[in-house]
Amino acid sequence: MLNFSFYNPTNIVFGEGQLQELDNLVPKNANVLITYGGGSAKKTGLLDRVNAELAKSERTVIEFGGIPANPRFDVLMEAVKVVRDEKIDFILAVGGGSVIDGTKFIAIAAPNKEYEGREREIMNFGFAGVPAESSVPFGTVLTLPATGSEMNNGAVISDGEDKLVVMSPLNFPKFSILDPEITFTLPKTQVANGVVDTFIHTVEQYLTFPAEGRFQDRTAEGILQTLIEIGETTVNEPENYDARANLVWCSTMALNGLISAGVPQDWTTHMIGHELTALTGLDHAKTLAVVQLANWKVRRAEKREKLIQYAERVWDLREGDDDERINQAIAKTEEFFHSIGMATKLSDYEIDADIIDRVVANLEKHGMTQLSERGDVTLEVSRKMLETAL
Ligand code: NZQ
Ligand code: ZN
Repeated sequence: MLNFSFYNPTNIVFGEGQLQELDNLVPKNANVLITYGGGSAKKTGLLDRVNAELAKSERTVIEFGGIPANPRFDVLMEAVKVVRDEKIDFILAVGGGSVIDGTKFIAIAAPNKEYEGREREIMNFGFAGVPAESSVPFGTVLTLPATGSEMNNGAVISDGEDKLVVMSPLNFPKFSILDPEITFTLPKTQVANGVVDTFIHTVEQYLTFPAEGRFQDRTAEGILQTLIEIGETTVNEPENYDARANLVWCSTMALNGLISAGVPQDWTTHMIGHELTALTGLDHAKTLAVVQLANWKVRRAEKREKLIQYAERVWDLREGDDDERINQAIAKTEEFFHSIGMATKLSDYEIDADIIDRVVANLEKHGMTQLSERGDVTLEVSRKMLETAL
C-alpha cells in the first residue's frame, strides 16, 4: 500500500426529510446566498422548501440562479460580485455537480484579494491546488447523485474550450444534505449519467495495477456491484427509495478520497472526457462511458492483472482463460451501460473522427501528455483511445 493522508471534514446528513436540518446547519444571523442551476430547483418546489427552512431563524437570504451544466467562469463571476457586494458570509448550493462546483469556485474567488481582477488564474493550478488562505463557507443540498462533489475538494470549471480542475482543501462543503427523495425528479438520462459517473470514478481508482490495497479494492468492488444491482431499477423506477438511496451513497463514497487512499489512480478517461465535453457539449458521464471501454481495450496489457481481478470479483467470471475473461468483463460492462440507456460509441452521438485532432490538441495545451497510473498515456495513446471509441 502507498503512503497517504486522508482528510475529509464534510458533515453528511443523509435521508428522507433531512432538509429540515438546514436551520441547524446554516449559521443563524448569516447573510446567505443560495446558488442554483437552470431552473429545476425552482420548478420542483425545492427552492421554496429551502427558503422556508432558512426562514425559521433570523437570516438574510438572496438567490443566484442560472449556473449552467458545466459551470462557466463568466456566470460564476456574476455571483462573485453578488457575494462581495452583499457581504455574503454563507453560500448554500442547491443542485448537482455543476452548481456545487460553481459554488466552490465562487467561495474561493470572492474573498481572496490576491485574485481580485484576475480570478481566471484560479483555474490554472490543477491538481497542485489553489494557493488561497480563506473561502466563504458553504453547504450543499444535493439534487443529482453523480460527481461526489458534495463531499470532496474538487471542482471542474469551464471557460470556452477550457474545462479545468480546481482543487483546494477550502473546497470541502461544511455539510451536505443527501435526501434521495430530492433526486426523484431527475430525468432518466441524468440518473443513468449518475450511475455511470460513479462507476467510472470507482474504476479510475481501482482498475490500475495491484498495490496491496485490499480494503480499497474490496470497497471499490462493493460499489461496482451495488451499481450493477440497482442500476436498472433506479433508472426505471425513479421513486424506488432504496435503490436511489444506494446510488446516492455510492456516488458520494466513490469520490471522497476513501477508495483512492494508498492506491494508484488512472484518471485518463476523465481528462479525455473533459476535453470532449468542452468541445462538443456532451454530458460528462456520456463521454466517460465511451472513453473508458476504449481505455481498457488500448491499455489491456498494462491493466491486465486488475482486469482479471475485475472479471472474477465483480462479474464472477471464472470460466475460460484470462484473455477470454477480460473480453467478457469488458463486454459485460458495455452491456450494463446499454441496459441503463447509456451509449458507448462516439458515433452514437454523431461525433466523427474530426474531433480527434481537436481533443489531442487541447490535451497538449492543458499539459495532459503523461496520463494514467503509470504516466504512460502520451498524446499518441490518447489518440488511439479516441480512434477506438469512434
Ligand atoms: O440546471 P438545472 O435546471 O438544475 O438542471 C440540472 C441539469 O440540467 C438537472 N438536475 C439536477 N438535479 C435535478 C435536475 N433535474 C431535475 N431534478 C433534479 N433533482 O440535471 C442537469 C445536470 O446537472 P449537473 O449538475 O450538470 O450534473 P452533474 O451532477 O453530473 O455534474 C456535472 C459536472 O460536474 C463535473 C463535470 O465535469 C460537470 O461539469 N464533475 C465534478 C467532479 C467533482 N467536483 O469532483 C467530478 C466529476 O468527475 C465531474 O468532472
Ligand atoms: Zn466524473
